[in-house]
Amino acid sequence: MAQYQTLHIPQALYGKEFQLTLKDSFRQLRPGNQTITSGVNGDFWGPTLFINKGDTVRMDVLNKLNDSTTLHWHGFHLPAVMDGGPHQVIPPNTRWKPYWKITNQAATYWYHPHLHEMTQEHMTKGLGGLIIVRDSVEAALALPRTYGTDDIPLVLSSRRYDASNQFVFTNTAYGDYLLTNGTPNAQYTFPRQMVRLRILNAETERGFILGFSDNRTFYVIGNDGGLLEAPVSLTRLPVFVGERYEILVDLSGLSEGSTLDLKAYNSGQTLGFPGGEPGTDGQFGSLLNNKDFSVLHIIIGAQTAKPILSLPASLVKQNYLSAADATNSRALSITAGQPANNPFRFDNKLFDINYINHTVLKNTTEKWSVTNNNVFGHCFHIHDVQFKIVSRSSGPIGAYESGWKDAFFINRNETVSFVARFSDQADPQHPFMYHCHFGNHEDEGMMGQFVVSEPTQGNGPSTAASKFQIYPNPVGDRLYLNRSEAPDGVYYISIISASGKTVMMLPRPELHQGIDVSHLAPGVYYLHITSENKKQSTVSFIRR
Ligand code: C2O
Ligand code: CU
Repeated sequence: MAQYQTLHIPQALYGKEFQLTLKDSFRQLRPGNQTITSGVNGDFWGPTLFINKGDTVRMDVLNKLNDSTTLHWHGFHLPAVMDGGPHQVIPPNTRWKPYWKITNQAATYWYHPHLHEMTQEHMTKGLGGLIIVRDSVEAALALPRTYGTDDIPLVLSSRRYDASNQFVFTNTAYGDYLLTNGTPNAQYTFPRQMVRLRILNAETERGFILGFSDNRTFYVIGNDGGLLEAPVSLTRLPVFVGERYEILVDLSGLSEGSTLDLKAYNSGQTLGFPGGEPGTDGQFGSLLNNKDFSVLHIIIGAQTAKPILSLPASLVKQNYLSAADATNSRALSITAGQPANNPFRFDNKLFDINYINHTVLKNTTEKWSVTNNNVFGHCFHIHDVQFKIVSRSSGPIGAYESGWKDAFFINRNETVSFVARFSDQADPQHPFMYHCHFGNHEDEGMMGQFVVSEPTQGNGPSTAASKFQIYPNPVGDRLYLNRSEAPDGVYYISIISASGKTVMMLPRPELHQGIDVSHLAPGVYYLHITSENKKQSTVSFIRR
């Protein structure tokens, strides 16, 4: 029997400003050599960020990796230039400072790298973290919310190791060993009461059919982007890549010291289920494929002081979209090239970072239908919006996935339609992504992009570039810009060192506050400005 290890609970960070440093590290994950990993503020994975709806959140992302990467805020409605997709590349030793106002509902979101062709590698090495949004509606409900005690994050992924214990991330869709919050053979003590689990599937491809080893009933209370209207009871819950589910499980009837397991019941799935393939090795095989295995060994502990002991009868009244709300519709088809082994793609087109696949008009509600004519299942994810699934050609939509979502599994020979509203964020310069969330499929080009544009937006009249002056110059800890001719706004600022290295990236900088350059070493720098009309200008300054 495996030796259990205590489940790691990622550090909780609270507030409106977060410093996130990405760096390579190592961790003892198994006997023998340590494994080279990457982490955010640590050696693997990253802190859980607690943020409140309505706050403006400022991120200070410092890339100390040897590689360029990006950091994407999965599930959030935000300006495309802050989104952290493949366009917002952060070179090594560069600071990227996005910020946005949180309009998303209370739910469990996450952040992860999204550099094209590198996503699987960067995620396999361990980069990512959870974001828990809180709001007044959720706060008013009698739900467990003591993080690490009765409100437990569960990030599920698996790894394959080579002979020297290093992660394998090429030509492999599946790991052989499960990590729960980065912990192998995880166990944890849950109090004898109602416990809330926030489950994220952070795998490359594998889906999990989750259930408890005593087949007890549990309750789904939330989807990717919000709480459900009422708890949904079930004994098995499918969780596919990129999806989050919040569940409640009532452990009050168990005696202290007894045990049970949260398990993946992955044996006997039909073709198309990711992780159902029969082989134990090779690109599509794995030691975990097509079998049942423990995800968390649970020990029942004492009740806490103010335990939640009952299930709320109802949760949140939602204003869901329906198919009738859509004023425009689009059809996407999942295709594979010829010969049949070519990479999966959308509409026979591989991802092209310079090609806009779709233009959506701001403030429209659209119905998107995705058809999978493929040999295998996929996980569809779209940036910017939370949507409502309105139909599945395979049968009724599960009540457990009837809430606000940003990702879903689409089986072979299935069409799934969803309705989303594309509000607020119009930006013809920066697209949002839609893609298969299987890291390997995404990297191989199963991704497309869309811009949200104003009905009248085009390239504005050509105007002279603005002239900027920096003051004071030489600069101390903070610099200010004085714009002498200012026909248009500042869209983006990069600060470049004398040797040509980008050291800071500031999307839509808040110029009235000045720019904090306190961490820059003394020397000459160039401040490169891109205006809303794509005009470029550069001014130099001295940091003393
Ligand atoms: Cu979780 Cu486009 O990403
Ligand atoms: Cu796919």
